Amino acid sequence: MTGSSAKKEKLMEKCIGILTSGGDSPGLNAAIRAVGKSAQHRYHMNVIGFLDGFRGLMENRSIRLDQEMLSGILTSGGTILGTSREKPHKMLVGGKCVDMTEAIIETCEKHGLEMLVCIGGGGTQKNALRLMEKGLKVITMPKTIDNDVAMTDVTFGFDTALNVATEAIDRLHSTAYSHHRIILVEVMGHKTGWLTLGSGVAGGADVILIPEIPYQIEKIAAAIKTRRSQGKHFSIVAVAEGAISKDEAKIVRELERKSKGGDDKAYKKLSEITERRADNTLRISKQLETLTGLESRVTILGYLQRGGAPSPADRILATRLGTACADFIKQGVHGVMVAARGESAIPVPLPEVAGKRKSVPPDHPWVKSARHLGVCFGD
Ligand code: F6P
Repeated sequence: MTGSSAKKEKLMEKCIGILTSGGDSPGLNAAIRAVGKSAQHRYHMNVIGFLDGFRGLMENRSIRLDQEMLSGILTSGGTILGTSREKPHKMLVGGKCVDMTEAIIETCEKHGLEMLVCIGGGGTQKNALRLMEKGLKVITMPKTIDNDVAMTDVTFGFDTALNVATEAIDRLHSTAYSHHRIILVEVMGHKTGWLTLGSGVAGGADVILIPEIPYQIEKIAAAIKTRRSQGKHFSIVAVAEGAISKDEAKIVRELERKSKGGDDKAYKKLSEITERRADNTLRISKQLETLTGLESRVTILGYLQRGGAPSPADRILATRLGTACADFIKQGVHGVMVAARGESAIPVPLPEVAGKRKSVPPDHPWVKSARHLGVCFGD
């Protein structure tokens, strides 16, 4: 170590840890870089990264996030730290599901962590809250392509995925109109329809199916037939992976109610329905072929929506939330998620975020605009 770096090391006050958890998403590296650089340069903190989400934290697998590690990552997709969907209180160890919270607390103590930064979506917010309740100082940031984290205007990853899905819909138009086909495009979003709605509106889809507005297949077929009678022999249907018919929604609601009340049979039935729904879009496609007599095809965008370089908007969002996060750490603020609110970044207490999904309100302005243009929601 040179004299000046030894001096710098001495100046370092706090040590903070960063992890990324849940599905990978564009903008994660931009966020790691923003917290890390800001914490080091501005506040002279030591920054370490834990690998593969809460699993790496439990197993004490970490790397030092020094200047070199944080350089050149702004534009790259994925996460340099790796990620997993592991939960501290339910980890698979030796083939068994074990509560590893104590091991996690031990790792944090070993490193003398002042604060643990957890970057992730809805599941991560819940896990962070659980750790907070066990006495750890945590702060979180909202990332997910689904845009379904509560209390923040938007999550990073969403804008990039929106661009990918919109471009896909743009491209699918050529085949749909040339072959006079119905093309269904399945868009991610878990149990919410933000990505499907956004890309459907931006890409000019004729039908948009989202979980928040259950559909009736006959209504979709009727809308496609009306288009045909107007001389439009193709239709683009944007289908959220969680789209659900009115009949299914009724059954699911009832099963969820029973399952929450401890009914094991209802829980099993619910899991079966969820599994069967994996080929939902194909099923809708076949139904539409039968009902309209038109040829129909399906394109599933899948992980293409999560990969690659973050859009400029996501880079900016992740950067401003990340630098604000470092500011809050310096001020000793913890137990909060750093949320985007207008142009500012505000701390929202974790209990107000965790376990609360942000769904599309059925009367959302994007829905209203689409309806004005004659887009069918199947309801
Ligand atoms: O949360 C992001 C997301 O891509 C969802 O849209 C999707 O339902 C889910 O992750 C897929 O999860 P996995 O990466 O575990 O296949």
